[in-house]
Amino acid sequence: MSSVSGISMQLESRHPGWPGKPGSLRVPAGVVSVRPVRLRDAGDWSRIRLRDRAHLEMWEPTGVGPWPDRNAFWSWPSQWAALRALARRGQCLPFTITVEGKFAGQITVGNVIRASLRSAWIGYWVSTDFVRGGVATAAVALVADHAFGAAGLHRLEATVRPENTPSLRVLTKAGFRQEGLFERYLDVDGAWRDHFCFAMTQEETGRGLVARLIAAGRAEYA
Ligand code: ACO
Repeated sequence: MSSVSGISMQLESRHPGWPGKPGSLRVPAGVVSVRPVRLRDAGDWSRIRLRDRAHLEMWEPTGVGPWPDRNAFWSWPSQWAALRALARRGQCLPFTITVEGKFAGQITVGNVIRASLRSAWIGYWVSTDFVRGGVATAAVALVADHAFGAAGLHRLEATVRPENTPSLRVLTKAGFRQEGLFERYLDVDGAWRDHFCFAMTQEETGRGLVARLIAAGRAEYA
């Protein structure tokens, strides 16, 4: 093996923070935990996403093919395998959110770039069974602390449509800072949509997002 391919092998096998255990927090909806996505999430994932189409579709990147096909039980294994492959290459941290042990949504740190950028985006969705109970905010805090800690990232970005009041609120409660507006940024629900860019760097985290949520009375250690 040449030294160049040796270095590349070493880089590919490095995936700090994966698989990880970002932990749990108690919020009004119950105990929120975050853990790596599993193949056996298929049933809950599909059932909830088929039922919650009206809640989710308008905020998600436009997909190829009809919603019922993209979110069918049989479409999870390939999505899970793709996420797991990215995670094993250190490019993604794909987590399932649970509430009291029940599947409640997903939160993903994606497009992980290392070297002198050490940056990624964060995105999430929560089942209508659990919304407005602090679940997404707790999951963002847990995963951001994990991303800035075990995963060694320096910057997290979140892009959100200006109309998405609940998600804007999540990011504000979690302590993200609005940086600007990306015009016609992302193909969402069939059109190019403006998005606010929110961000946070490691220097802004203080003792951590979880500690801040707890200090603000929005969560308790589980
Ligand atoms: N108008 C005003 N405020 C609202 C509304 C509304 N219609 N709905 C919810 N809120 C508020 C809640 O009251 C709460 O704020 P509060 O604690 O000050 O009362 C906040 O929005 C929501 O906070 P959480 O309870 O922590 O969030 P939740 O678990 O309900 O999940 C989420 C929010 C993820 C946005 C959920 O609604 C969802 O999955 N939406 C569809 C998918 C989506 O939009 N994902 C985010 C895309 S952007 C991104 O990933 C960066």
